Amino acid sequence: MSSTLITGIGELVTCDASLGDESLLGVLHDAALVIDDGRVAWVGPAAQAPAADEHVDAAGRAVIPGFVDSHTHLVFAGDRAAEFAARMGGEPYTGGGIMTTVAATRAASDEQLRAGCAARFAEATASGTTTIEIKSGYGLDVATERRILEVAREFTPETTFLGAHVVPAEFADDRAAYVDLVCGEMLAACAPLSRWIDVFCDTGAFSAEETRTVLSAGVGAGLLPRLHGNQLGHGPGAQIAAEFEAASVDHCTHLTDDDITALADAGVVATLLPGAEFSTGSEYPDARRLLDAGVTVALATDCNPGSAYITSMPLIIALAVREMHLTPAQALYAATCGGAKALRRDDIGHLAPGARADLVLLDAPSHEHLAYRPGSPLVRQVWLGGLPALQQQ
Ligand code: NIG
Ligand code: FE
Repeated sequence: MSSTLITGIGELVTCDASLGDESLLGVLHDAALVIDDGRVAWVGPAAQAPAADEHVDAAGRAVIPGFVDSHTHLVFAGDRAAEFAARMGGEPYTGGGIMTTVAATRAASDEQLRAGCAARFAEATASGTTTIEIKSGYGLDVATERRILEVAREFTPETTFLGAHVVPAEFADDRAAYVDLVCGEMLAACAPLSRWIDVFCDTGAFSAEETRTVLSAGVGAGLLPRLHGNQLGHGPGAQIAAEFEAASVDHCTHLTDDDITALADAGVVATLLPGAEFSTGSEYPDARRLLDAGVTVALATDCNPGSAYITSMPLIIALAVREMHLTPAQALYAATCGGAKALRRDDIGHLAPGARADLVLLDAPSHEHLAYRPGSPLVRQVWLGGLPALQQQ
């Protein structure tokens, strides 16, 4: 693979505090970056840049790490726009619409599932996402959960088995039998296609005991734990995430001080999904309280047809800044390095030498524009493992 030198970088965000101005974002001005063999080979002042086979002039624009979207439900069929419209008219979000998507997903062919996922994946790439996690959870039977994960695997190695999303209608009278299925035949079919095990531990979904049972089975099958928790109420999700030393607990809208201490002590990332609050009209999580307590915060889209049909990480950053009072720097860090930590990855989410060359050239002079100009297509060019994945004219 030939090497590429990017010069004229007005602002290079490395997300490595040992580089550049030694801030959270490790910013270098008037910088250059060399990509070689799919990795970042060099960063530094433009005046000292080494030679390379190819040359790109950033013309004063900003370069940032590609976004790490560590929480999505990208494989599904069907449409719930009417449910969204009803919510905007005052209806509350309960998660009850999940079964609508399950019915449509079960009825869809592999080709339909693949095409829908591909369209959303392309949107995500165009908005600067270079790593994406994809969950199952809209099949809730052995065959469909497996089909979802087979499709997800075509797009990312970061796949998550979420058979414990809700109890499907056919098991409404025997929840224990559904948990047995998830931990038995369904897990056996899905574990080979998954890196992670997840449970929706919340009001109207799975109890503390059920959550522990499913997580234990997943861990026993070699999967790494993560959780949906504390979205709809003050549930046990955060405490169970700490108990299992999960990589991340996601949503975190309703947390007690004890929950926050437990997350900080156990090193569990709190993944915030403000697109869900935006699209359900719910209160936003208290991001500053988490940061002040020393918890690592990640931002992700939660892209799904019910609570957040959003593929754009720049929109999530804008929401985090405007609605959750993160600084633009904290929001960008959470959307890159925070996401990498939520996926236990140290090769992505930053642009220090040795990192994967997943980077984004913005059509803007600084990262602040991501929140400052919401809705504008600021992603000009994307490199994925050192290769151009997108180029806007
Ligand atoms: O992460 N909270 C649970 N699951 C999804 C939403 C599912 C749906 O409404 O379809 C979420 O928000
Ligand atoms: Fe989710």
